[in-house]
Amino acid sequence: MAMLTVLLLLSAAFALGDAISSGNRLCPRGWTQYGSRCFMFVKTARTWPEAEASCLLSTEICISLEANLASVHSSEEAQFLQGVVFSETGEFTPTWIGGMEAFGGLVGKGRLWIWSDGSKFDYQNWNQEEPNNNGGREQCIVMNFGGEQGWNDLECGNVLPSVCVVETFD
Ligand code: BGC
Ligand code: CA
Repeated sequence: MAMLTVLLLLSAAFALGDAISSGNRLCPRGWTQYGSRCFMFVKTARTWPEAEASCLLSTEICISLEANLASVHSSEEAQFLQGVVFSETGEFTPTWIGGMEAFGGLVGKGRLWIWSDGSKFDYQNWNQEEPNNNGGREQCIVMNFGGEQGWNDLECGNVLPSVCVVETFD
């Protein structure tokens, strides 16, 4: 009996913890929450700039949400996003995320990668040998690329599905 009480208390505490840690903040309908952000897979294949524009002004949901293509900040979050794509397409479909090379690659030394949502580029999940700037014009980041299903730099004019992100709201 004591054991049962402990279990009940523990599960109540976890339930409460969940409610508190998510801060009761919300995602728009059809978006999936991860941490303090909401993600949506967009099936329609678009170029990277068109996909970014469609996150900002989502024709899918008919309102201006000011979302962006998704930034990714940890391997857990990268795996969560792969799960979102898999649950929508049944495969690890190559999908645009919000990484792009700043200044058209004209930085001089090395390459400067940025996220379109303005967050810090503090995590990367490149495939082996990437980013290789194949052909010299690969300035956008695709997830779920090739056998490794990590990131690749790819020409931004390729048409692919995408994932948008927006902060949760009260
Ligand atoms: C290469 C990638 C490249 C892509 C371009 C692949 O075979 O591994 O680095 O971005 O081709 O289509
Ligand atoms: Ca590449």
